[in-house]
Amino acid sequence: MTTSTPAAPTSPGSVTRPVRLRVNETEHALQIEPRRTLLDALRADLHLTGTKKVCDMGDCGACTVLLEGKAVYSCLVLAADCERKPVTTIEGLAQDGRLDPVQRAFVEMDAFQCGFCTPGQIVSIRALLNENPHPSDEELHRAVTGNLCRCGAYLNIVRAGKRAAELLAEEQQDEQQAEQQGAAR
Ligand code: FES
Ligand code: FES
Repeated sequence: MTTSTPAAPTSPGSVTRPVRLRVNETEHALQIEPRRTLLDALRADLHLTGTKKVCDMGDCGACTVLLEGKAVYSCLVLAADCERKPVTTIEGLAQDGRLDPVQRAFVEMDAFQCGFCTPGQIVSIRALLNENPHPSDEELHRAVTGNLCRCGAYLNIVRAGKRAAELLAEEQQDEQQAEQQGAAR
């Protein structure tokens, strides 16, 4: 699906160019300044405000999104450089109305206080599990070192990462069983 989204206002006299972004499996045709960051395009142009803007300079990780499946700070990436690269934000993790295993694990393990860093933490752990479905505690710690939590919720964040890996494994097991039962019929 492609949507043409009116861009947020730009400064007078600024030069814009067409940029097509594929975000959460939807194509968006934007007309934006070449210097616009992916973070500003997501929040101001596409109104996907789950991705948070805090430092806007690559220090806090609140703006983390998946770009081609890898975690990136969207405040350090130009939107124009993301053409033809799938972007997934926190809004795109749930599938068919069901929360992603990492999101469910965060709720289950009470892994947030104010919640401001939470979207970035969840996306970083999702990126780790995409590559390594059975991470150690140390690998989970490392995955969120670039995501600052001022509330100090790291203990439960790492527990949530462990729980997410279990939920993911259970889901995969259920899928395999369903496939085997389907093949046996
Ligand atoms: S807002 Fe991007 S790293 Fe802080
Ligand atoms: S839960 Fe408050 S900053 Fe992390």
